Amino acid sequence: MKLLIPGGAGYVGSHMAKYAQNQGHDVVVMDDFSTGHEWAVRDYEVLRVNLLDQEMLARSLKGRQFDGVIHFAAKSLVSESVKKPDLYYRNNVVGTLNLVHELLRNDINDLVFSSTAAIFGNPVTNSIAEEHSKLPINPYGQSKLMAENILRDICSAYSFNATCLRYFNAAGADQSETIGEAHEPETHLIPNILKSVLPDGNKLKVFGTDYDTYDGTCVRDYVHVTDLAQAHLLALEHMNNNSGFSAYNLGNGKGFSVADVIKACEKVTGTCIQFAVEGRRTGDPAVLVADSQLAFNQLGWRPQYDSLDAIVRSAWRWHQRGSR
Ligand SMILES: NC(=O)c1ccc[n+]([C@@H]2O[C@H](COP(=O)([O-])OP(=O)(O)OC[C@H]3O[C@@H](n4cnc5c(N)ncnc54)[C@H](O)[C@@H]3O)[C@@H](O)[C@H]2O)c1
Repeated sequence: MKLLIPGGAGYVGSHMAKYAQNQGHDVVVMDDFSTGHEWAVRDYEVLRVNLLDQEMLARSLKGRQFDGVIHFAAKSLVSESVKKPDLYYRNNVVGTLNLVHELLRNDINDLVFSSTAAIFGNPVTNSIAEEHSKLPINPYGQSKLMAENILRDICSAYSFNATCLRYFNAAGADQSETIGEAHEPETHLIPNILKSVLPDGNKLKVFGTDYDTYDGTCVRDYVHVTDLAQAHLLALEHMNNNSGFSAYNLGNGKGFSVADVIKACEKVTGTCIQFAVEGRRTGDPAVLVADSQLAFNQLGWRPQYDSLDAIVRSAWRWHQRGSR
């Protein structure tokens, strides 16, 4: 397939591009490099486009055909979204609308959209299935839910297919060790733990040890980024015979506490990890674990990285290589 990957220079998108190319697909990345990296996309044709620049977007897609579009381009820092909601609604909602508008004009009809567990808000069940109530508690989650709803309406009105994949916590790095997780600022737990043991690393902060969980720290569901990439290709294949809108939750279905993750990182790095305990962060639910049964049953998705140690090991190999 010929695939367009907006946001392909970012963490999850660059793993998608690599996985798709390894599977024999032809990849074109589109990115404005606002949070993405040149070093992550050296092997692909790159269209340097901001999705908010409708004219440039139209020019770059004119006359081009793609069998599928996998759309990762978004801003995704919860705390930033609280401080600058307009930035998030514009980038994530208007950006998606602009993209869909040009896809419709060019008769490109299959889209996979990066959604998030943040659309659910505070969980009311132990594990979160697709029908769980959707009450996001920050503008980031709200912007993703709005984009999902827009895509649902577009699919009803036109001959267009969209699958929303709601990831829980993406983690780990490609086995080639050439790409990995590099956000600035980094807010994700595993890279922050691993960076804290490297020379010049900042001391790790643990936010909240008084949650109603088995050890008082937050529990999250970590899913390997290459397993996520596999799900995107399966979703595109599934759309060949299943038109319209669909949505799937993607996680390992196992919850690990912050303390569990620190222990796994200690084992993998052979280091005693020092940390400072801070107060809870606003908007952090105690437990977020996915029920991915629907993706298993309908997409035939089977995550390959089923242990936290294996996920951490892949991330550690990449972090040890230093700056790109
Ligand atoms: N990382 C996770 O754990 C996680 C969890 C759930 C959902 N997601 C979603 O997955 C997607 C990718 O996340 P990530 O962690 O790789 O983030 P990232 O910041 O590394 O990647 C986002 C990419 O999109 C690009 N981009 C942003 N706005 C753009 C615009 N207007 N035009 C063109 N390019 C633009 C950035 O330059 C970057 O390359 C996001 O949509 C995010 O909401 C990520």
